[in-house]
Amino acid sequence: MSTLSFNTPLTDAFLVDLRTLLQPADLLMGPEDLERFCHDETEDLRFPPQVVVQPRTTEQVAAVVKICAAHHVPITPMGARTGLSGGALAVYGGVGLSMAKMDAIIAIDEKNLQVTVEPGVITQVLQEAVAAKGLYYAPDPSSRGSCTIGGNLAENAGGPRAVKYGVTRDFVLNLEVVLPNGEVVWTGANTLKNSTGYDLTRLLVGSEGTLGIITKAVLRLIPLPKESRLMLVPFRDAHKACQAVSAVFRAGVTPSALEFMERDAIDWTLRFIDGVNLTIADDTAAHLLIEVDGNHGDVLLRDCEIILGVMEKFDCQEVLFAETSAEKDALWKLRRRVAEAVKGNSVYKEEDTVVPRYELPNLLAKVKEVGTKYGFKSVCYGHAGDGNLHVNIIKGDMSDEAWENELPKAIREIFEFTVSVGGTLSGEHGIGLVQRPYMDIAFNQVQLELMRGIKKLFDPLGIMNPGKVLP
Ligand code: LAC
Ligand code: ZN
Repeated sequence: MSTLSFNTPLTDAFLVDLRTLLQPADLLMGPEDLERFCHDETEDLRFPPQVVVQPRTTEQVAAVVKICAAHHVPITPMGARTGLSGGALAVYGGVGLSMAKMDAIIAIDEKNLQVTVEPGVITQVLQEAVAAKGLYYAPDPSSRGSCTIGGNLAENAGGPRAVKYGVTRDFVLNLEVVLPNGEVVWTGANTLKNSTGYDLTRLLVGSEGTLGIITKAVLRLIPLPKESRLMLVPFRDAHKACQAVSAVFRAGVTPSALEFMERDAIDWTLRFIDGVNLTIADDTAAHLLIEVDGNHGDVLLRDCEIILGVMEKFDCQEVLFAETSAEKDALWKLRRRVAEAVKGNSVYKEEDTVVPRYELPNLLAKVKEVGTKYGFKSVCYGHAGDGNLHVNIIKGDMSDEAWENELPKAIREIFEFTVSVGGTLSGEHGIGLVQRPYMDIAFNQVQLELMRGIKKLFDPLGIMNPGKVLP
């Protein structure tokens, strides 16, 4: 749809308009600044914007968007650029719209268990602010110490606790959005229920900055669980570890996290980080990291007993319980740093496959089968309880030629499998730039045309995060 061309030189008139609106400190054009904003955490991709703007208010965002619309300059909304599908890459150049300076927690409403935030607030900062009041914002992507709520909303981020509490979308009540023509709207109401018209809130969450710019969010909170138990369960057989996952739920327990890590994921991370001492038996092939939480220790103990019973049925090895909060922190640090460790180890591509939970063992088997066929090693880990497997494809000895030309066929085979068993392409990282070529596997032309129609209605000029999501 977009008629934009790549990196069209910015006109003086456009820059004058921006300079009239923004303080010099909020308008960045130096090479170092553009370098800083040219990448997210997706592989080694780099697309510098031509200018970075850092608005401080919704009114400024709206004015920037109006200027861009008038001059037909593309806009790429940016959070903390921790994304893994290239959603925040300025592939057409133009304006990188950083939301970093809109980082206020505007109000914590303890009476209604809600919080109103600006998009630039760091997820962990929000979690800690509400925890201080006994409240819980559960979505917790691994990058929660650096990612921001705006990026979480754009990609519909998940994380380990989604298995019990839901993903970002499940915590959103209402959004203030600057549309691609500069108009400002709220999408819904600050209520827990809402059957009033089309659900624009749910549409905007996960739209990856292609439909508008979220400038405020009203989020749902829940009471902070008082206690948790955490166990690390080793298995000789990774397939059996995956089989054990759905059996836990069928035994009547919903853990607050149920994570899978292949041997290499743990080994590489143990080498990558400091301060975690863990000995892994030579014949361990995979681990499940399982957490239960709640308010009553005796209930959690019973849940743990049920889980242990299930694990034994799938031939687990000796289970390690984290006894102290320091031990819990260490295990969570190990899990949260896997992505970085893999990235630090090798050229790689990360897929964010997701299938109905019971299909997880079959997905793992398929990934390994495709790896054998195409000659790559994979390191798999992720949110097993959600059927969400992060497949890290390691370049290793693969030739550049095979990496460029054969690997997309391999990825296609993996995605075709996920869709054939009722799954899809991405559970939580989004489509962004890098998964776009595979959208035809998940959607037919009728479905894609519906999505294109929505995009066109919101963004007739095609200036809002062009080159993303839709093939
Ligand atoms: C994780 C990120 C990569 O699960 O989604 O660690
Ligand atoms: Zn994840």
